[in-house]
Amino acid sequence: MQKVKVNLGVNSYEVRVGSGCLALTGKWLGELGYSGKAVIITDASVNKLYAAPLEKGLKEAGFDVDVFTVPAGEEQKTLGSAGVLYDALSRVNAERITPVIALGGGVIGDLAGFVAATYMRGVPYIQVPTTLLAMVDSSNGGKTAVDHGSLKNVVGAFYQPKLVVADIDTLRTLPAIELSNGMGEVIKHAAIKDKELFTFLEKNMKKVMALDEETLENIVVKNVRIKAGVVEKDEKETGLRMILNYGHTVGHAVEALSGFKLKHGQAVAIGMVAEAKIAVRMGILETGVVNRLEKLIQEAGLPVRIPEMDAGKLMQIMGHDKKVRQGKLTFVLLKSVGKAFISGDVDSTLVEEVLAGG
Ligand code: NAD
Ligand code: GLY
Repeated sequence: MQKVKVNLGVNSYEVRVGSGCLALTGKWLGELGYSGKAVIITDASVNKLYAAPLEKGLKEAGFDVDVFTVPAGEEQKTLGSAGVLYDALSRVNAERITPVIALGGGVIGDLAGFVAATYMRGVPYIQVPTTLLAMVDSSNGGKTAVDHGSLKNVVGAFYQPKLVVADIDTLRTLPAIELSNGMGEVIKHAAIKDKELFTFLEKNMKKVMALDEETLENIVVKNVRIKAGVVEKDEKETGLRMILNYGHTVGHAVEALSGFKLKHGQAVAIGMVAEAKIAVRMGILETGVVNRLEKLIQEAGLPVRIPEMDAGKLMQIMGHDKKVRQGKLTFVLLKSVGKAFISGDVDSTLVEEVLAGG
C-alpha cells in the first residue's frame, strides 16, 4: 500500500492506494478517531461487488454500519437523490460526527460528497473510489456536486474528504469502457504536467489495459500526486487548478451535443486532441505532439475525432460553458508534453475551423 498526503492545512488528508485496502478501511477509520455509526453510500452495481468486504471490515473495527444504495448512473446525481439520502441519514439518526463513506465511481463520490458537505452543515466523508476515473481524479480534490436541469455539476461545494482509499483490486471488475474513460484523465494529467508519465504510458499502455496490478497502482499514485500538487496550490480553482480542465472546453460541448451518448472520458479525449490542434494552429505547440497524443488516446480505447457535428452548434455550447469569463472563451493550451497554460485569448474563427476539421 502506498500513501500520498494532500496538504491543505486543516483540510489535509491522505490517499491510500493498494491491493486489499477495502477490508482495512474500518481499521483506518478507527485509527483516525472515528467510532460508533458509519454510513456507506453506494450504487446498486458496486454494492453487489464491494459493499460486503467494506462493511465487514467496518464491523470488525466496531462500527455500527448502515448501507444506502442508489441506482447506478449519472441520472442519479441530482438534488432528488440527495434528498432521499438526507431522509435516510436522519432515519438512522446520523450525527455530525458520523462518517459517510462514498463507495463507487465518480457519480457516487460527487453525490455522497455533496450530501456529506450539506447534511447538518457538514459531516466527515471518506472516498472509496472503485473506478479508475474516480481513483485518479474525482475522489481527490474536494469537488462535490449534483447536476441540475441540463447543467452538469452546477450545484455543489468544495469539501475535502478525511481519507481516500483506492483498492486497486476493484478495477478487475471494471467494464473496458470505464477503464478507457479513466485512462482519458490519466493521459490528461500526463499531457499537462508530467512528461515522464506520458513517455511511460507510450511504452506501457498494453500492461495498463491488461490490468497489470503493479503498473496500475503506480499510475494511480502518480496521478494522485499530480492532482494533489495542483489542488494544494489552488484548492478553490481561482487559477492554476483550471489546467485540470484541459480538453474539457471542447469535450463538454461534444458531450452535450451528443446528448450525453458519448461518455465524459471519450468526449474529453476528443477535446484534448482538438485543443492540441488549436495550440498547433496558434504556433504554440509542435504538430508531433498531436500525433503522439492521438496514438496514446487510441491505444487507451478512446476516440480522437469529433463525430459528425455542427461546428457552429459546438461553438454556441462553448459560449455557455462555465469556463467563459467576461464573454471570452478560455482554453487550456499545451506548450509541450507536460506543460500547459491557461489562455483567454484564443481566436474564435480558428477554433471553429479546428472543430469543423474534426
Ligand atoms: P460512474 O460513477 O457512473 O461509474 C461508472 C459505472 O461503473 C457505473 O455503472 C458503476 O456502477 C460501475 N462501477 C463502478 N465501479 C465498478 C467496479 N469496480 N466494477 C464494476 N463496475 C463498477 O462513473 P465515473 O466515470 O467513475 O465518474 C463519472 C462522474 O465523475 C461524473 O459525474 C463526473 O462529473 C464526475 N467527475 C467528478 C470529478 C471531481 O473532481 N469531483 C472529476 C471528474 C469526474
Ligand atoms: N477534475 C478537475 C478538478 O478536480 O479540478
